Amino acid sequence: MSDIKKVAVIGGGTMGNGIAHVFAMSGFNVKLVETRRELADKALNTISKNLTRMVTKEKITEKQKEETLLRIQAELNLADAVKDVGLVVEAVPENFEIKKRIFTEIDRHAPENAILATNTSSISITKLAAVTGRPDRFIGMHFFNPVPVMKLVEVIQGLDTDAEVTQTITDISEKLGKIPVQANDFPGFVSNRVLMPMINEAIYCVYEGVAEPKAVDNVMKLGMAHPMGPLRLADFVGLDVCLDILNVLYDGFKDPKYRPCPLLVKMVDAGKLGDKTGEGFFKYDT
Ligand code: 3HC
Repeated sequence: MSDIKKVAVIGGGTMGNGIAHVFAMSGFNVKLVETRRELADKALNTISKNLTRMVTKEKITEKQKEETLLRIQAELNLADAVKDVGLVVEAVPENFEIKKRIFTEIDRHAPENAILATNTSSISITKLAAVTGRPDRFIGMHFFNPVPVMKLVEVIQGLDTDAEVTQTITDISEKLGKIPVQANDFPGFVSNRVLMPMINEAIYCVYEGVAEPKAVDNVMKLGMAHPMGPLRLADFVGLDVCLDILNVLYDGFKDPKYRPCPLLVKMVDAGKLGDKTGEGFFKYDT
């Protein structure tokens, strides 16, 4: 069993604050790293709100909420945040150059035996591992939104990931109350290789006039018992993120079955990215 007690989570956005939330709730001390004070405060507020929701639903007590919040410390200095942790989980935007810059710095300052994990949804684990001096201690730890609710952690081994590191991350995922599933590093891993073609096909149904968005979603919700229809889910994930992942699949496999629907491209060009911009296939209050 791993003796890791201190974790740094890099990025306090939707995924990062959810990841910090579940680590802290499971007893880990968490450094939550953001670039600006207001972003760090926003992340802490979101965590507090989500914990209050859990108190209201009687899943945790007020005391557990307070203890969880006390275990999270916001940090603006990446080097300081990672200098004494056993695990770093990166959850910054899905851009290779940004992640490369961050992992280069983390690698320089984190203890030699610390495990470096990325929550990337599509960028190659092997390629990210190669920017560090420790590809054997580098791994994918892919959480799902909303992190406090979704049970899965997809644990992705890069080409050089040590088996002991995979085991440690599997154990830690269980400690978080999650169910880890192991996958090897190929484009989209398992989750997005299966999910994104379904979302893309739902978009083609709208593009080709097969049915309206609401009807497409109702078919999948009422006929297949999906909690959200694929177009509602695409808005929830972000249409820009969906497009990025489809492009990774398309480029990675060179197979036209992954070609992004032109309607998806057009909506991203128009800035209709889903929940975060107030409009995607459906409209939202922002
Ligand atoms: N924190 C804590 N609890 C939360 C929460 C949060 N952020 N969001 C929701 N909850 C809890 C609610 O309190 C509620 O608890 P209860 O069961 O005790 O009442 C429960 O989750 C359900 O929430 P709601 O009642 O508010 O709403 P719904 O019943 O409509 O469920 C949903 C919302 C959980 C989001 C559900 O619609 C769902 O499961 N949707 C599918 C989500 C999904 O597929 N996510 C994966 C996206 S893909 C991804 O992340 C990977 C990336 O690589 C693309």
